[in-house]
Amino acid sequence: ISLNSYNTLGLRSEAELFTELHSPEDLQKLINDTSIRKLPWNILGGGSNLVLPSLVRGLVLKVANTGHEVLGDDKDYWFVKVQAGEVWNDFVQGTLQKGIYGLENLSLIPGTAGASPIQNIGAYGVEVKDSIFEVHCLDLKTGEEKVFSNKECRFAYRDSFFKQEGAGRYLVWDVTFRLPKNNVMHLEYGDIRKELERLGLSNEPRHIANAVINIRQSKLPDPRVIGNAGSFFKNPIVPKSTRDALLERHTDLVSFPYQTEHFKLAAGWLIDRAGWKGKMLGPVGMYEKQALVLVNHGGASADDVWKLANQVTTDVKSIFGVEIEPEPIRW
Ligand code: EPU
Repeated sequence: ISLNSYNTLGLRSEAELFTELHSPEDLQKLINDTSIRKLPWNILGGGSNLVLPSLVRGLVLKVANTGHEVLGDDKDYWFVKVQAGEVWNDFVQGTLQKGIYGLENLSLIPGTAGASPIQNIGAYGVEVKDSIFEVHCLDLKTGEEKVFSNKECRFAYRDSFFKQEGAGRYLVWDVTFRLPKNNVMHLEYGDIRKELERLGLSNEPRHIANAVINIRQSKLPDPRVIGNAGSFFKNPIVPKSTRDALLERHTDLVSFPYQTEHFKLAAGWLIDRAGWKGKMLGPVGMYEKQALVLVNHGGASADDVWKLANQVTTDVKSIFGVEIEPEPIRW
């Protein structure tokens, strides 16, 4: 089966075997089948953070449970459960429509809700780790349910237990969010405030969502038009001393304080200054409006993607001495 429409980079890719999971019982059936069990398994969500090879060996499992429900509330919080296969933005807009706030800054991030804890998606000063209460997984060996508390997920910047030791062992089945009744708005990042002003809107959550949607649409390519996987690289985290030394040579370096004595550098700025913004190598290139986004202008393969990614990484390293790392998962 072709996976072309299952990955937002639009790479040509075939799966040997493909099936959708609608219930935990579907998984149990696959586990009980000895011929299926011995194959390599690959878990597919929205395919928006993935670089696929031209042939995926073994079985591709598309997580296909959808929907979300308010489980209840206490004095301070709403508890909302979302199924892993739900489109992330449908969930975000669904909570906002119910008057439950906290995810507005994460509007329009591509992908599924089940992928959100895996790489701790984030935008405009908010990350899902701030509001995930617990993650319900299925053990891929036994089919049994296992619950991970927020702490057990070991969230970090674009990272978690599920992307590290847990990779290949657990499938995220649903996620419970804990969203505050007394929502604190995050307007400090990027152009949100400016966009609200431009639209003449107040800073209530639904307006923030609209501002975020506008900003994203103006900077980030629509995967239905130009294949891409959002930011292709993570923003590198460096010690303060490294950042200070760089700042001396490049006074317009863009960086943000990160934890103690560290800074996150804007990889988009580094790639831009390395001359890669809007530049192509074969059928792929770095997007003209946001250098951090690798785009497929048509017909690219994983090899094309890695060739460009390696070239960009090498150039950034040789100019700035900083190592940048890809964000998408490589199958
Ligand atoms: N910049 C440039 N040139 C460029 C691109 C960016 O100079 O071509 C500079 C800009 O001046 C800006 C700075 O880099 O000041 C940061 O750019 P931006 O605000 O667009 O954010 P980012 O660091 O590039 C991160 C996330 C995005 C998220 C935005 C907004 C990562 C890897 N990326 O991008 O997440 O939407 O912040 O919060 O952390 C994603 O992960 O797929 C993603 C899109």
